[in-house]
Amino acid sequence: MNPETKKVEFSEKAQKEIRELLTHYPDKRSALLPVLNLAQAEFGYISEEVMIMVARLLDLTPPKVFEVLTFYTLLNDRPVGKYLIQLCRTLSCALVGSENVLGHLKQRLGIEVGETTRDGLFTLRTVECLASCGTAPVMQINGAFYEKLTREKVDRILDDLKRGDPPVLKPMGEN
Ligand code: FES
Repeated sequence: MNPETKKVEFSEKAQKEIRELLTHYPDKRSALLPVLNLAQAEFGYISEEVMIMVARLLDLTPPKVFEVLTFYTLLNDRPVGKYLIQLCRTLSCALVGSENVLGHLKQRLGIEVGETTRDGLFTLRTVECLASCGTAPVMQINGAFYEKLTREKVDRILDDLKRGDPPVLKPMGEN
């Protein structure tokens, strides 16, 4: 652990939610994923200090928390932009042009994979299969899926988000 690591604490409200949450599990370690989701909502991302706090709270080791944190693509271990773009690069998406979509996203946003735009609006990542291979190429932005992507569709989506229209969570195939 980094000696500089700061101590963090959940707010009263979050602590109350966690206490309630733990009543739903026979073993508090099983509540790791919902507690991490709550931590992300509270702190914006799961920093090292947050990870250590969650580990202590649930009687887990920090490496165990880290393992779960890095497995789930919606959990962030570093600050991200308001909109986290996660583009699938696995085979079905690659076969129908995810590389082109990625190139277009990089060009439009002026960033590389893993970076955030200077205005703090967009972070770009690539991920493994998003389980929507039949409608490839696919990306997820925060909680919303966007499928059958083309350059034009990407432009529309980015323009909508820049205007402040948040992505709406729709059933697959409707975005
Ligand atoms: S390969 Fe891209 S969603 Fe499955």
